Amino acid sequence: MTGRSSFLIVANRLPVDRRIEPDGTASWRRSPGGLVTAIAPVMQRRHGAWAGWHGAPDEKLEPFEQGGMSLIPIPLSDREVELYYEGFSNATLWPLYHDVVAPPVYHRRMWEAYRTVNERFATAAAEAAEEGAVVWVQDYQLQLVPAMLRRLRPDLRIGFFLHIPFPPTELFWRLPWRKDLVEGLLGADLVGFQLPGGASNFRRLCRRLLGLPYKGNEIFLDDRVVTTQAFPISVDFAQLDSIVREPHIMARAKEIRVELGDPEHVLLGVDRLDYTKGIGQRLEAFGELLKDGRLRPNEAVFVQIATPSRERVEEYRRLRDDIELQVGRINGEHAQLGYQPVQYFHQSYDHEELAALYLAADVMVVTPLRDGMNLVAKEYVSCHHDLHGALVLSEFAGAADELRQAYLVNPYDVEDVKRQMLAAMRATPHELARRMRTMRRRVATYDVDRWASEFLNALETPASQTSTRRSASWRSG
Ligand code: ADP
Ligand code: G6P
Repeated sequence: MTGRSSFLIVANRLPVDRRIEPDGTASWRRSPGGLVTAIAPVMQRRHGAWAGWHGAPDEKLEPFEQGGMSLIPIPLSDREVELYYEGFSNATLWPLYHDVVAPPVYHRRMWEAYRTVNERFATAAAEAAEEGAVVWVQDYQLQLVPAMLRRLRPDLRIGFFLHIPFPPTELFWRLPWRKDLVEGLLGADLVGFQLPGGASNFRRLCRRLLGLPYKGNEIFLDDRVVTTQAFPISVDFAQLDSIVREPHIMARAKEIRVELGDPEHVLLGVDRLDYTKGIGQRLEAFGELLKDGRLRPNEAVFVQIATPSRERVEEYRRLRDDIELQVGRINGEHAQLGYQPVQYFHQSYDHEELAALYLAADVMVVTPLRDGMNLVAKEYVSCHHDLHGALVLSEFAGAADELRQAYLVNPYDVEDVKRQMLAAMRATPHELARRMRTMRRRVATYDVDRWASEFLNALETPASQTSTRRSASWRSG
């Protein structure tokens, strides 16, 4: 059993991403997105291993150690990147699970690749886990892994967490492979969702699709009980809170404001460049405030940071063109010498610079059309021990369930976004502090460690005797 782990994370991506530079040299960078933000600190505090793709196609790598974690790279061929990752994961499941804000595609070849790659992840996990280990499978790219892994290793305790929304039955029903996906997930002992709504969508689907009875959080299979529950994911509050108290970060935040021309209001957007994030909607609202004259020239600057994401997928390419055109238009119409209202960066930043940006911003604008949670909103709150700063937050982000004191908006309603952005800019320091204090209390209490320990405690608690008895009696009935 040497070299095997008692605790294993299985995710599409490793926490580090391999970049091959134009001259052929390779380097490592932190992987994009909220999943890695959340799981990396949890893993650094627990001994275990992480199996995932290292981000470069057609490259096989040996397991290695990094940042206190044992990493097991899973190879993907170029064709698999196209069909499994860009295809079924990000052109079928991603839009379908996000309220079809873009049309999903349904291709049998993509599905085949999804199955093949899921099988590879399951095999790797089966080889890496010691007897009776806890294996925690992550997200929509690997929904078949729990059942595949259970077939290979019935001794394991298997958890699954979905980082994105789980759609209503009517939408899920469209999937030609709906039954396979649901059966894949039911291989887990515990299936976790961001919100209670996702968990209940899933339970209803199991009943309608497979005729499985459920009661409370538990779904009754012939021989086992699967628990379904919401665990809202979070951030490392303490770490962010301490970063922004460092003098060089506070100085950098001040410097950022000076570099922006010392406007009265700094508004900020930080996202992967993704069509679910509502970047166009928030820029439209800001542009209209300038056009209507409700914002004076020079009064406000909007900083939009958009990390490159899934750049070979058609919808993402189109989105980049649209956003860049929109930024150009707003700046063309409203810029003056020495003043550019929208500052747009198609770049990724290190966590210190990002923390300084959060601290520098008066208004954080988070307007997804649909989002599982949105960690950016929680990061912003964690960075404002000064109790200054306002959060404008979409009602369609999972975070809106917890951060009720944000300026909540319907991103489809441009007048609403304008109104709330203005309200956030015009609020008194007392009002801002009142809202920020409550939001900080929530994020400080429900931080990422609490999220992980609640999930893992639930996973390690065997299904109750009552559940098992109930399951047995329903079966016989
Ligand atoms: P998603 O998981 O869909 O990307 P989240 O808001 O939940 O959305 O998580 C995004 C994560 O990526 C956050 O931790 C955020 O700090 C990070 N991030 C987003 N944009 C950038 C950027 N330009 N540079 C560095 N990190 C970024
Ligand atoms: C979201 C998804 C993650 C994904 C991340 C970055 O957070 O829930 O599973 O890793 O976006 O996307 P990418 O496609 O670059 O891995």
